[in-house]
Amino acid sequence: MPEKYYKEAISNKIFEYITQATEELQLKSYVIGGFVRDFILRRGNAKDIDVVTVGSGIELAQKVASLLPNKPKVQVFKTYGTAMLRYKEIEVEFVGARRESYHEDSRNPEVTTGSLQDDQNRRDFTINALALSLNKESFGKLLDPFGGINDLDNKIIRTPLDPDITYSDDPLRMMRAVRFASQLNFTIEKSSLDAITKNVNRIDIITRERIVEELNKIMASPVPSIGFLLLEKTGLLNKILPELIALKGVEEVEGQTHKDNFYHTLEVVDNISKHTEDIWLRWAALLHDIGKAPTKKFDKRNGWTFHSHEFVGSKMVYKLFKRLKMPLNNKMKFVQKMVLLSSRPIVLASEVTDSAVRRLIFDAGDDIDSLMTLCEADITTKNPKKFRRYHKNFEIVRQKIKEVEERDRIRNFQPPITGEEIMKTFNLKPCREIGQIKEAIKEAILEGIIPNEYEASHKFMFEKAKSLGLEVNLK
Ligand code: CTP
Repeated sequence: MPEKYYKEAISNKIFEYITQATEELQLKSYVIGGFVRDFILRRGNAKDIDVVTVGSGIELAQKVASLLPNKPKVQVFKTYGTAMLRYKEIEVEFVGARRESYHEDSRNPEVTTGSLQDDQNRRDFTINALALSLNKESFGKLLDPFGGINDLDNKIIRTPLDPDITYSDDPLRMMRAVRFASQLNFTIEKSSLDAITKNVNRIDIITRERIVEELNKIMASPVPSIGFLLLEKTGLLNKILPELIALKGVEEVEGQTHKDNFYHTLEVVDNISKHTEDIWLRWAALLHDIGKAPTKKFDKRNGWTFHSHEFVGSKMVYKLFKRLKMPLNNKMKFVQKMVLLSSRPIVLASEVTDSAVRRLIFDAGDDIDSLMTLCEADITTKNPKKFRRYHKNFEIVRQKIKEVEERDRIRNFQPPITGEEIMKTFNLKPCREIGQIKEAIKEAILEGIIPNEYEASHKFMFEKAKSLGLEVNLK
């Protein structure tokens, strides 16, 4: 085999400085990992460069910094024996080549110095163990001891060593394998898949934050179902998101069945991913039906029902986020809201009244467009006639939303009459009646009894007050 050189990959000036520093310190250095992989895959300019040196990574980083014109600061991580510096928009991390040995209960290995080959052995996948020489005499030479280039060509995720050891040593790699498969549309090699399945319980030693980081990367990939199906197949999904596994399966009673909500859900996620990059809307798609498992019932008259699954589902979103230590912020609230409202436009599709549209805009606010995108993604029927009809109906709903919006400005509804005005007009201290009047005005606007305007609301306030037996403050 002729030796391969990838000089183009390391044409950035920073590599010249690293080579010079390597020479001066009489070391051996290589660029390794994601940078090399992504260059060969043409995945755009990598901003993270990992450099491994046979020697001290910290010393090398300091030398490089001293050679660079702007003398950047070197951040040293003593415990890990690594150092980092910034060059323009690039982050370069330096580490000494190492050999690792792991303990049963931790993914933090014991580290001893080693050769480049030792360092490549300890890496997760063959495609991440590719290294390019930064040494003067072999600048750009590829070092690929495990056939990583072949695996890139054949789109395969494979571990350099026995997969059972690689995954058991650092179980986060199980998530990483699935994540890379999903991001790159690669296949996980059979023995790897078996090893993940076997080691599935080892995921328990991984922090939830790291698991979620990988989940979010799966969610952001072009076809997220690739990742979720692999998580399901290996048993990881059952450990991480059992709520989704509970949606699996089709039951039959008296000849009546319901759809498999797990596979339906994955279709919805893939559908929505064609229309949005927003991972939180994608999360909403993933969780939009989770309330269906606990609410599923069969009754003779109506067949299979999932009464208030949207409400139950939105409550489950909170519990799920909390369990996974995901931030309980407005992103979580957005997902809850999408789940809660996920059936509303469908109801509208059969009868689009102005007042129902107004109520939907009021409840969804600025998220109305996301909600419609979710509902459209929810159409997974394989009947082309129905498919067209449902989409057409949603088009009508969207059009109606536009019309009502332009006319009534309901989206960020601010009641035209404030509580203070009501208090002043009727000489009231804070009391129940103020809320009742405000609510009545809001209802009248949403029902289309009065327009969303001050004059009409003001007049309506008096009518409502009268019915409550209140008198005007004449002072
Ligand atoms: N690595 C590993 N095991 C892990 C994490 C990382 O062996 N659990 C190795 C891999 O060789 C990887 C390198 O460390 O290429 C850098 O890791 P990281 O920056 O996390 O990932 P990248 O491969 O660069 O990919 P991405 O930026 O997409 O996460």
